[in-house]
Amino acid sequence: TLPGQHLYHGVLFFGFSPPETLDAVRDFQVKSDDVFLVTYPKAGTTWMQEIVWLLLNDANFSLAASSPVYMRSPFLEFKDDTLQEVGLDIANALPSPRVIKTHLPKKLMPEQTFEKKPKVIVLFRNPKDVCCSYYNFYKSSSSFGDFQGDWPEFLEMFLEGHVDHGSWFDFTKSWWPMRDATNFRFVFYEAMKINLLEEIKQLAAFLGKTNLSPETLSKVAEHCSFESMKVNPMTNHEDVYSIDSSVSPLLRKGTVGDWKNYFTVQQNEEFDQRYKKEMADLIPTIPFKF
Ligand code: PPS
Repeated sequence: TLPGQHLYHGVLFFGFSPPETLDAVRDFQVKSDDVFLVTYPKAGTTWMQEIVWLLLNDANFSLAASSPVYMRSPFLEFKDDTLQEVGLDIANALPSPRVIKTHLPKKLMPEQTFEKKPKVIVLFRNPKDVCCSYYNFYKSSSSFGDFQGDWPEFLEMFLEGHVDHGSWFDFTKSWWPMRDATNFRFVFYEAMKINLLEEIKQLAAFLGKTNLSPETLSKVAEHCSFESMKVNPMTNHEDVYSIDSSVSPLLRKGTVGDWKNYFTVQQNEEFDQRYKKEMADLIPTIPFKF
């Protein structure tokens, strides 16, 4: 157990998502033109936030350069008074259409999500890469009880759901049944790495942004490349006091398959077994073989 963690309806959280905030999230007033961006941590959330914000704001690059992405696209269940970053307050003050980030499993979402039927983008990434990215984030961030453990310890915590926002398996199983709902779009990090422009085109169509020209969509793709976002102070989070970028920056490697540099053969076999057991019913319907 790390200092500052708590369980909320069986899901592990740290102090930046206190129980009062998680209660208030349940009562959050959803608008039908909101866009929810739902991810398990480290799936490429920041990447998708910048893309969706630009699409909804007619690729207003100068406005995107005027404030950090986490202020333009709030993290719903996040509360940090030092930073004056309180997701609910930012969301309530923003003009519509709002792009709202959350890492919550379905059962903890604002209740109105399923009445108001806003558009929801659910982004997935190979859980092995998610786990490596999360490990590095735990090392660089002061938000997770000053974790001092090593990779085998973190892998065990990840498999047991003893990490911030709980189990990847539970998160994925909670959202997967929504994949055919018309107001939902499921996206894969791996597909974005293969053809970002194509994914952006499909997202623009899903969001009804048919006014954006092919040239504009290409500019969005360029602006959102790993290389651009890594040096962009509005997206790289290097100003966030709780992240020590010299240990590991938020935009760390941005690749597919970095897990091969972390997992031993045995750890990989154990992970595969666990994945098969947890995901048995879903595997035939998952378009990516992780
Ligand atoms: S968070 O804190 O949960 O919101 O983090 P999140 O943004 O989901 O995850 C961070 C990882 O996403 C990678 N990333 C990108 N990859 C490719 N292209 C772009 N533009 C991009 N932006 C962010 C980031 O590098 C982290 O992955 P790793 O593997 O650690 O590099």
